[in-house]
Amino acid sequence: MHTEPVPPLAAFPEAFEVVVPQLFQKEYLVAGELRTATAVKEVLSPMGTLSGGEFRPVVLGHVPKLGRDEAMEVLKAAVAAYKQGHGDWPTATVGERVAAVENFVALMVKEREPVVSMLMWEIGKTRGDSEKEFDRTVGYLRDTIEAVRDLDRDGSRPTIVEGIYGQIRRMPLGVVLCMGPFNYPLNETFATLLPALIMGNTVIFKPPKFGTLLFGYLLSAFQKAFPPGVVNMLYGDGRTVVPPVMESGLIDVLALIGSSNAANTLKKSHPKPNRLRCILGLDAKNAAIILPDADVDNAVTECVLGTLSFNGQRCTAIKMIYVHKSIADDFLSRLAKAVDSLKMGMPWEKGVSITPLPENNKAATLHGYVQDAIDNGAVVYNTSRGNQSFHTFFAPTIVVGVGEKCKLYTVEQFGPIIPVQVFTEVSEPIEYITNGYFGQQVSLFGSDPTEIGGLIDPLVNQVCRVNINSQCQRGPDVFPFNGRKDSAEGTLSVTDALRSFSIRALVAGKLTPGNKVLIKEIIRTRSSSFVNTDYLL
Ligand code: G3H
Repeated sequence: MHTEPVPPLAAFPEAFEVVVPQLFQKEYLVAGELRTATAVKEVLSPMGTLSGGEFRPVVLGHVPKLGRDEAMEVLKAAVAAYKQGHGDWPTATVGERVAAVENFVALMVKEREPVVSMLMWEIGKTRGDSEKEFDRTVGYLRDTIEAVRDLDRDGSRPTIVEGIYGQIRRMPLGVVLCMGPFNYPLNETFATLLPALIMGNTVIFKPPKFGTLLFGYLLSAFQKAFPPGVVNMLYGDGRTVVPPVMESGLIDVLALIGSSNAANTLKKSHPKPNRLRCILGLDAKNAAIILPDADVDNAVTECVLGTLSFNGQRCTAIKMIYVHKSIADDFLSRLAKAVDSLKMGMPWEKGVSITPLPENNKAATLHGYVQDAIDNGAVVYNTSRGNQSFHTFFAPTIVVGVGEKCKLYTVEQFGPIIPVQVFTEVSEPIEYITNGYFGQQVSLFGSDPTEIGGLIDPLVNQVCRVNINSQCQRGPDVFPFNGRKDSAEGTLSVTDALRSFSIRALVAGKLTPGNKVLIKEIIRTRSSSFVNTDYLL
């Protein structure tokens, strides 16, 4: 057991000395207009003040709360703008779409500070990580623009095979329903939304349940940069506004970063499954395997980052650690020391790591997982601070001996709990991964090339990314981000997202003398933007 004294849990102040952002938003963007919603929903921060022992969450403002009829109007606007592929946006040139997205990025950058500040206050992400999220998103959009230019250059080169002329380009799919997660509300949402737009689709954008208000600062950028109906906002309770939109059968692409349960329900509610393409980033239960010859210091550093960055609220977080029994004591005592020294506090405080959790009653849920593990034979290892909570704070908790009877063995805790299992044979973690519901990533810690090499080969057939002596993560964003089993459908990355939100179309013809003249004339007179050899520089 780790019993060294640790700092007490963080507290909330009686009043904040920093400026609290507030936005009382009623408007939402639909068909190019900012309409006023008939109802609103209050937005509370996970941070609050304490007065006489009572916790009062900070009120950040309110967001529109649409009903079923308003949701159908949003759908109507997106469908009208797509116009079954005949709309101005799906038929715009790539150059026109690139210009619109460039304009959007320029307008978005001006809103950096309010967006970053609201991100921090809405979901409790540290200031540094909130800034990173914003900047990474802007970088992603700029890389996307470059990738679209490359695609356009590829598409402008006709090919001739077996005497047949062919020109292949990527074309839009239709109306995209885009739903992002609360842990990366800006980045993960824009990493599907903007690729969908730039490929010529029209979009219905449903902001996440937390991390909603920050989009209020970007409404006008969307309105100014894109033609009416190309981007439409669907605010409100997901269970009210999303089902009718899906049940209409008019959605062509579901882009959802969230839970596999939500994805399954939504997919089933679409009446024309063959019409619906799904791009899904879902649950994960990434494991770390610490082999006997691992560099323990490095394994601890990477496991702390992997399990506890943004309080463990990352789909890519390490959510189970398997450590070999020969180094378990050494690893666990150093892990506990590192974990217990993490600063808990407000997201704007210098050096802070563990911050308040935005999900309702999350601390109670996490205590429930820990208690269930204890009931099934596990122990809390960092006893001086582990399994303690204070309103929206939950102290990082190492739970050792998490066997298959424990909920923590399979559940995606999405919080600062580190489940650990000590193993004797490496077949034990391999079996865990093979039989798990998810298949996103794994982290291997060790130094023997024969052993690591021998583990890589079976593991790449179980998960989509094997990290060597490194935590699990999505980036760099040009790498494919995907998963097997219940972890994902489709692949995202700067270039893969463009493919996911488009379909190849081909114009072909036998190169008869007549066709040669015809195609040359189409190209010379620029009568088609598809059969065209111009390209973007
Ligand atoms: O929540 C899932 C995110 O895509 C993780 O991204 O690995 O860069 O934190 P990250």
